[in-house]
Amino acid sequence: MPIRLIVHGGAWSIPDEMDAAHLNGVQKALETVYPALQAGISALQAVEQAVNILEEDPTFDAGRGAFLNDQGEIELDAIIMDGRDLSFGAVAAVQNLLHPVSLAQQVMVKTDHSMLVGKGAQAFARAIGMEELDPTVLLTERELAYYHQIKEDPNFKSHHPFEPLPSDTVGAVAMDKDGNLAAATSTGGTPRKMAGRVGDSPIIGAGAYADNQTGAVSTTGWGESIMKVLLAKTVCDRMEHTNAEEAARFGVQVLREKGKGYGGLIGVNAQGDYSFAYNTEKMAWGWVDTRGTIQARIK
Ligand code: GLY
Repeated sequence: MPIRLIVHGGAWSIPDEMDAAHLNGVQKALETVYPALQAGISALQAVEQAVNILEEDPTFDAGRGAFLNDQGEIELDAIIMDGRDLSFGAVAAVQNLLHPVSLAQQVMVKTDHSMLVGKGAQAFARAIGMEELDPTVLLTERELAYYHQIKEDPNFKSHHPFEPLPSDTVGAVAMDKDGNLAAATSTGGTPRKMAGRVGDSPIIGAGAYADNQTGAVSTTGWGESIMKVLLAKTVCDRMEHTNAEEAARFGVQVLREKGKGYGGLIGVNAQGDYSFAYNTEKMAWGWVDTRGTIQARIK
């Protein structure tokens, strides 16, 4: 089977001055992980590693650089899914961790459960020896300034679709040499979200889905609307009946028409065809094309 790797660094109206940072982040994830995928790591390992790189990068709303909630704190959500057997791990509202997607992976492989939230997830992270960081390690000056700017604004809403948001969710989808698919998504959620708010990203079928029989998808955008239409699963199901590009367009159409929402997605179908679509002003994403060349886009 062909190997495939596609990543995204979020949707919305990314300010022009942040375009280069988004492209660099996407490029770095692809150029670091694709050789490992060629060398034989699994699709599951590839999506975790790619998302880890994006979580480390303060450009994105994931790990370091995440938005602050209404209490001025960072709460992170993530999911990872294995297309071989539909197993997945997810975490929500976790704090002081750089790599929530790796905690999600550990939930998948080390517990009888699929999703842990809040203090239970935190206790599990401690129990498996995951490093808990001082909250300031994840905090950027950009997000602190943005929090103070919007904190008392009575007109602020988490999602003004076409107002610039400095950053958004990250995700990755991969197919390995054995034809296995995997998807992962990680986010800090929405700016000034209520403490405890959980968006689409860690919700199976909304933030990500992977099924070797159909395809794998990671989504980004307005979580409350993405959850309504289970965007990732909707696109994967469609991939069984039509080509990858049309399936992605269909998903965004459903998001807009039924979910009244905004967002975007990346995917790979069971045949190894890439897809992407979005109805926000911009999305940052990149893939390694069939010649092995990295393509990074923001538009
Ligand atoms: N899509 C990220 C969120 O709404 O939390």
